[in-house]
Amino acid sequence: MDEKEIIKKLEKYNQPRLINILNKVDNKTKKEIIEELSEINLKEIERLYENIKDTVEVDIGELKPVKSINPDKLTKEQYEEFENAGIDVLKNNKFAVIIMAGGEGTRLGFNGPKGTFKIDVEPKPKYLFEIMADSIQRANKKYDITIPWYIMTSEKNNDEIVSFMEEHNYFGYPKDFVGFFKQGELPLITEDGQIVLDENYKIRKAADGNGSVFKSMRERGVIEDMKEKGIEWVYIGQIDNILLKMVDTLLLGVAIKEGSEIATRSVFKDFPRERMGTLCLKNGNVKVIEYSEIPEDMIEAKNENGEMLFGESNITCNLFSLKAIEKISLKDLPYHKAHKRYNYLDENCKICEPEEPNAYKFEYFIFDSFEYFNQISVVRGKREEDFAPVKNKEGVQSPETAAKLYNDYWRRHADERM
Ligand code: UTP
Repeated sequence: MDEKEIIKKLEKYNQPRLINILNKVDNKTKKEIIEELSEINLKEIERLYENIKDTVEVDIGELKPVKSINPDKLTKEQYEEFENAGIDVLKNNKFAVIIMAGGEGTRLGFNGPKGTFKIDVEPKPKYLFEIMADSIQRANKKYDITIPWYIMTSEKNNDEIVSFMEEHNYFGYPKDFVGFFKQGELPLITEDGQIVLDENYKIRKAADGNGSVFKSMRERGVIEDMKEKGIEWVYIGQIDNILLKMVDTLLLGVAIKEGSEIATRSVFKDFPRERMGTLCLKNGNVKVIEYSEIPEDMIEAKNENGEMLFGESNITCNLFSLKAIEKISLKDLPYHKAHKRYNYLDENCKICEPEEPNAYKFEYFIFDSFEYFNQISVVRGKREEDFAPVKNKEGVQSPETAAKLYNDYWRRHADERM
């Protein structure tokens, strides 16, 4: 697009700040900005801006608790029947795993992709990617298979992650069975709907959330690749849960036996205000309500035995059929916004460093995909067995708390170590 066309478009989509900047910069910078703008879908910016004004209202009247399977309440025969159905899928090489590693990890405050963070676990510190590799390797050994392992990266951290894995020889994982694919990005927008330029006159963008996984798999050819390999089930987990069990034969078996296309492992909240997304049913479909959006009456709700009614919580341990992934990859998941502080170039090309949040970042969330399905299987996990998140630098969900959970877990399961 040439300058005139771009200006016309910027006028149409109400971007006066960028027009001012274009009028002030030298020709070389102008050319670069125009080139970048030509690749931006300004209509999408308008949609993002509309989203800023939307507020989410949750009406508890529409919600019901989800039904979950509690493994502790299964008979030995039931348990084995589920497990065997899962093992059958593994043995027939119809299973793959994806680790989502495209996040920015801002809360951890570590300078590098989260997967390259070394956590002080016993008997020796390990990188998060190493912990994931070990976990899949254990299943490979147990079932005498090699599970294809895909890693979702971002534009920002892809090169660093690929070189890191190369340098560490994939932590012993067969290299031919590891694939990387990049997720997308969305531009940031200020409170008044303006695109943000950084100090280098580049459009500020951020990774578009873990829900980007479906679309990115389609766009990067991962769905096709999996089809060629005969994959039918895919576990999608996050890099920062060091008790993540991707090869979850029980979850797999439950999905198959219940005829679900998606299955998720939950944990029950410790207390009503615990900051976790809540699983519930809305119009019969499974939905996750973020902790920031949970209405007060939902927090307080109890069943006839005085127990928390909406305690089942999302820990991002999800299994999808490849068919489900393909279906979701063609949908437009909703945007979620986060109000953050970003430096920006003002209309006089001066860099401003605000002290308060000034711009919105937009993300797709993986759990929004649940709403496209009538039935999802939920299996209740246990915190001490399934959930040791590394989110914050200190305090709750920090490397310290996660390492303790991990060490305790491996003391109980010493016989399963490789
Ligand atoms: P979080 O939502 O906890 O975000 O990611 P984060 O980026 O790791 O950390 P903060 O919020 O900036 O502190 C949950 C999982 O989803 C992945 C993360 O890598 C993590 O495995 N994720 C998140 C992506 O792959 N892409 C994204 O755009 C966001």
